[in-house]
Amino acid sequence: MNADRMKIIAFACTYCAYNAADLAGSMRLQYPHNVRIVKLLCTGKIEPILILEAFRHGADAVFVAGCMEGECHFVEGNLRARQIVDHTKHLVEEAGMDPRRLEMFNMSASMAQKFVQAVRTMTERLEELGPSPLREADNDRSVERTGQSVS
Ligand code: FES
Repeated sequence: MNADRMKIIAFACTYCAYNAADLAGSMRLQYPHNVRIVKLLCTGKIEPILILEAFRHGADAVFVAGCMEGECHFVEGNLRARQIVDHTKHLVEEAGMDPRRLEMFNMSASMAQKFVQAVRTMTERLEELGPSPLREADNDRSVERTGQSVS
């Protein structure tokens, strides 16, 4: 499967990364269109279950994008987010996936190019890693379910 057909979910802080993505759009910067953005008040609100659910629902890669370190509007939310992401990488690995499918980036609202680069980085990783094994497992279950409903 081509990497630009795989799904990337970006959990983006409303104060920085979300605005950086918006600015990238306003500047008409080109980047892969396979990213869907989930806006968070602060990346400090991220939890492992949100990331794992994104993978379970078909994401091939997930990234969390927060303010620059020292610039979080909730003081240390982005530091907490980095710890959560690092911890969740282990859970992702235990689930049978390459932990490089998950990443954390920091940027300010004016760093449109950095948001674009984050999407490109994750897309390049997907070119190497291919679709999520959870997606393929789900496809197998769908085939099994279809088979059960026919028989
Ligand atoms: Fe942006 Fe906390 S307000 S990461």
